[in-house]
Amino acid sequence: MSPSPPPRSPASPDLPLNHVSVQVRGLNYFFGKGDLRKQALFNINLDLHRGQIVIMTGPSGSGKTTLLTLIGALRTVEQGSLQVLGRELHGLGHRQRVEVRRNIGFIFQAHNLFASLTAAQNVEMAVELTGGLRHKRQRAVEMLARVGLADRVDYKPANLSGGQKQRVAIARALVNHPQLILADEPTAALDKKSGRDVVTIMQELAKEENCTILMVTHDNRILDVADRIINLVDGRLESDESPQQFADAHAIKALDGSMFVM
Ligand SMILES: Nc1ncnc2c1ncn2[C@@H]1O[C@H](COP(=O)(O)OP(=O)(O)OP(=O)(O)O)[C@@H](O)[C@H]1O
Ligand SMILES: [Mg+2]
Repeated sequence: MSPSPPPRSPASPDLPLNHVSVQVRGLNYFFGKGDLRKQALFNINLDLHRGQIVIMTGPSGSGKTTLLTLIGALRTVEQGSLQVLGRELHGLGHRQRVEVRRNIGFIFQAHNLFASLTAAQNVEMAVELTGGLRHKRQRAVEMLARVGLADRVDYKPANLSGGQKQRVAIARALVNHPQLILADEPTAALDKKSGRDVVTIMQELAKEENCTILMVTHDNRILDVADRIINLVDGRLESDESPQQFADAHAIKALDGSMFVM
């Protein structure tokens, strides 16, 4: 008899922690103070495993970016436990959170490239942040070549297309070989082909480096790259499924439907 596949449940306490990049337990998050205090996340429990690509979806305002920025140590954890790459974020000070971020690659929809710097210089900046000054140009150029921009390394963002800019942002996120990549709608501004290219590059690099990708998207066309799809509704984790289970449960007939567009 073949062994049963690992469980896809959000919490898998039996797995050793080194297989788990992100472990969330009983996480609550509130915005505002006093009468204006409003809960954005409710009792989130979730494990993200090494080498997995997890897509997070859900209606606008459901808390996706909030959860992503908490995992990315860009916000302070106030209630519950959040372990990222073996470190508990609850109770960490600013300086320690900056340290955690060094191991994370961030890709956001607004790619935040510096307009006055070339593609290579934008990527080099990420290398500098980790103190890697030697061979930084070479490392930047190599990573840009990996994302198909070998002939654009000395172009400034204004002279690149949307898809090319997004690929520079991916090169910047990946150049330090992060163990965790957090992406917030990385394909939203791209046409179908560029969006697919960007996701394929992320997928290839994730598998090569055995890193974890958590990606927020409303883009049905890229659901198939996911190992799991988690769905947030009103700040609660509603489901955690394989792409096929997700498509069946939500009656997605084709991957280019528009069910996420609210
Ligand atoms: N800085 C803030 N101050 C107060 N409330 C906020 C703040 N940022 C987000 N919120 C609220 O928290 C909730 C979750 O917001 P969040 O940005 O995480 O949603 P989202 O799922 O990423 O939405 P979208 O798909 O539109 O990006 C929303 O109700 C939002 O209004
Ligand atoms: Mg958002």
